[in-house]
Amino acid sequence: MIQRFVYETIDSTNGEAFRLADNKGANLAPFLVLTQKQTAGRGRAGRKWESEDDGLYFSIYLRPSVTIDKAAMLTLVMAVAVAKALQRYIAIQEQTCKQATDGCESSLQILQTLGIKWPNDLVLNGKKIVGILTELRTDDRGYGVVIGVGVNTNQKTFPEELQDKATSLKREMGIPILGEVLLKYIEEIFLQEYTTFEKEGNLVFLKETYETLLINKDKVVRVLDPKGEYQGVAKGIDEVGQLLVETQDKEVQKVYAGEVSVRGLYGYVD
Ligand code: BTN
Repeated sequence: MIQRFVYETIDSTNGEAFRLADNKGANLAPFLVLTQKQTAGRGRAGRKWESEDDGLYFSIYLRPSVTIDKAAMLTLVMAVAVAKALQRYIAIQEQTCKQATDGCESSLQILQTLGIKWPNDLVLNGKKIVGILTELRTDDRGYGVVIGVGVNTNQKTFPEELQDKATSLKREMGIPILGEVLLKYIEEIFLQEYTTFEKEGNLVFLKETYETLLINKDKVVRVLDPKGEYQGVAKGIDEVGQLLVETQDKEVQKVYAGEVSVRGLYGYVD
């Protein structure tokens, strides 16, 4: 296990991770910041991340040996790690469930719907359950990365505007999630994959697993490119994590996550 800094409340675990690296020295890497609640949880594209009690909120600070242009791929590495950790968690629950009499198997079937919406949202039953925000900072010795993860574990309700888009594992599966156990699995799986990523410097080793989880695969997507929106069929990812979208004229566009969002034909996913 890597070193942990644990809080009851903090503004943002991403922000705290950078502060700790500044104050205690970047040599502390890798380390993890965990909190029960955030007062200013950060989401992608400058959005806010709802961070009341009952969710799992943490960040991992790293000093990768790969060049800075490769760091964005870490978001996809984390997405796969969280998905695998959830599968492991549920598989273990399932064993316990089989020994119980309350017939929780049906709620476990929902796991079949777990997937990644490119590039890094985890979705269950068509709704978001995990968000990942990767931030970079350069300094005189290179750069540091913070990968922040918010998992909707046990929330009962969501704000009005998120009703159709977000859900929690507990809401979908009817069983409470032990965040501490799930975090242990995520940490273990992520650090293993991170070691491989640092050696290889690309996502070839992860591509097949990622594409199995990719809910957009072979579906029509709308690419919300600031230079002009277009549609196509998502075919998978390339070795650096760009989404491959085949347009009507059979040309394959490579979509880079930075500025562009991808939606289903009618909504967030489908
Ligand atoms: C998204 O918009 O999908 C990304 C959300 C990331 C939220 C997590 S919660 C822990 C970490 N700290 C933050 O301030 N944000 C990330």
